[in-house]
Amino acid sequence: MSNKLAPTTADIRPRRVRFSWEETPLHWVPGDPFSTHLINVLHLLLPAGERWFVHVFKQALPHVTDEELKRQVKGFMGQEGTHAVAHQRVLEHMKEQGLDPAPYVANVEWLFERLLGDHTLPPVAARYWLMERLAIIAAIEHYTAVLGQWILGAEALDRAGADPVMLDLLRWHGAEEVEHRSVAFDLFTHLDGGYPRRVRTMALTGVALVWLIRRGAAFLLAHDPLVRGRLRVKWTHFFHRAHQGRVPTLRSLALAAPRYLRPGFHPSQEGDLQQALDYIARSPAHAEFEGHRRTSG
Ligand SMILES: [Fe+2]
Ligand SMILES: [Fe+2]
Repeated sequence: MSNKLAPTTADIRPRRVRFSWEETPLHWVPGDPFSTHLINVLHLLLPAGERWFVHVFKQALPHVTDEELKRQVKGFMGQEGTHAVAHQRVLEHMKEQGLDPAPYVANVEWLFERLLGDHTLPPVAARYWLMERLAIIAAIEHYTAVLGQWILGAEALDRAGADPVMLDLLRWHGAEEVEHRSVAFDLFTHLDGGYPRRVRTMALTGVALVWLIRRGAAFLLAHDPLVRGRLRVKWTHFFHRAHQGRVPTLRSLALAAPRYLRPGFHPSQEGDLQQALDYIARSPAHAEFEGHRRTSG
């Protein structure tokens, strides 16, 4: 068990935001349903996934003996809870536009709430299961930080005329993922930190994410009332969009896993914290909430 924490300048806390979805079209990357829906898979996965993070971290909190880490874990839980609510609203908007995500979301909820949920176990096995889930969250958080950093710099989406409200949601969320990128890893290290567990859960997470994202994109393209199944998920489409800079490259995602497994790795070595905090400071959703609060208060 280690109490060592990496230095951090970030004050991790939830921020209130406000998004207005009325003007956001179904294909929010204009004329590009493939990039739209590949990124939209995040809306399908994140509400259930982030609620699950909070649920598991609540169980871990009583075991944390470092007060600074405890404070960061609470800030992390507040941020993830806010993210889940924000993405849930996108799902409602999607349904209003004729694309009902419920069948796929039900599968995702089963995965997080049942398969990865609480089971009746004797104490030793319960501790094992908690550590396993903390390690899975640390591995997922490595990917959310990588994707967060990517979206902050994905200017090709601006050039493609992507909807500004959707870009703001993704960048505000991505920036907070970069900001709290170390918390899950530090929590796992503090309570367990076993290297075989780190390798095993990263391998499992990488395979599961590819499978879930591929299936999610296929679901959205098949149920999109404008596409009507005419477009399928193909690697050639993916490579083309990645080359354009509209989705992350396979190389950038594949190389993230060995970086995570490198001895001496710490998430603070990843991403650009200053860029993330700069984005949050100018995020329209954050400013709009503050403005709304001033006018209504
Ligand atoms: Fe998040
Ligand atoms: Fe996160």
